[in-house]
Amino acid sequence: MDKRVAVVSGGIGGLGTEICRRLAQAGHQVVATDLATRPERLEAFGSEVSDYGDQIVFEPVDVSIVESCSDLYARVNERFGRVDVLVNAAGITRDVSFRKMQESHWSDVMRVNLDGVYNLTRPVVDGMCERGYGRIVNISSVNGQTGQFGQTNYSAAKAGMHGFTMALAREVARKGVTVNSVSPGYCATQLVMAVPEKVREQIISQIPVGRLGEPSEIARVVDFLAAEDAGYITGANIPVNGGYFMSF
Ligand code: CAA
Repeated sequence: MDKRVAVVSGGIGGLGTEICRRLAQAGHQVVATDLATRPERLEAFGSEVSDYGDQIVFEPVDVSIVESCSDLYARVNERFGRVDVLVNAAGITRDVSFRKMQESHWSDVMRVNLDGVYNLTRPVVDGMCERGYGRIVNISSVNGQTGQFGQTNYSAAKAGMHGFTMALAREVARKGVTVNSVSPGYCATQLVMAVPEKVREQIISQIPVGRLGEPSEIARVVDFLAAEDAGYITGANIPVNGGYFMSF
């Protein structure tokens, strides 16, 4: 059988790059997709994944725009024929306390972090169901489980991803398609480094493992859920947060 084809949104980002690498190591053909508006980051991404050659390719998308997602899939289908694995890892923050929040802070986050999940998932689900195989992994956040000061928008979108995950998991379970979420804690990415140092240090002091997570530690779990033999795990959420939030 040909390589399984994986699409990773936010694919050139802090977590996305490691997820692409890890899926490629596991033998997937990987399509990293992201905004094409950061040429420097895109160039750095090219170097970071150069060892994988054409096994990791880049295709631009704006996940908040329906047509941009359908155009993306037209190109992916033309080149690779299908999508077997979708990792929804595109996400932004607009951190601000709610009493100072403008409508744009709210809607920017919703459009990318939650509408983007609909826009990217809706077009691939039919094909996955028809072929009897699919793996959908949604990158949520510990802050979708606990809420975070300054993140009513982000926490709402990330909690929304969990509801989406569980509902879709039920709908497609009999078709060989699994839908799961991963909830990273605070990892060493640009998103977290943008948090004011004092606040970040205070958060790190509350992490039992005593440090930020590594993107590779998130990618490992995504790869686990995306594997062929993970077919009995669906509707689950896997926290990877160094013990920052524990529940059962
Ligand atoms: N907890 C409790 N009180 C807080 C607080 C906090 N975390 N942050 C600020 N406050 C206090 C302020 O000290 C202030 O108190 P006073 O009125 O008594 O002076 C009050 O709340 C009001 O604060 P402001 O509205 O003025 O807030 P601010 O402008 O100082 O900063 C903020 C708010 C920008 C949200 C800042 O707290 C912040 O950046 N917090 C970090 C948010 C965060 O963790 N984001 C995660 C980004 S990474 C990510 O999202 C990845 C992932 O999935 C984990």
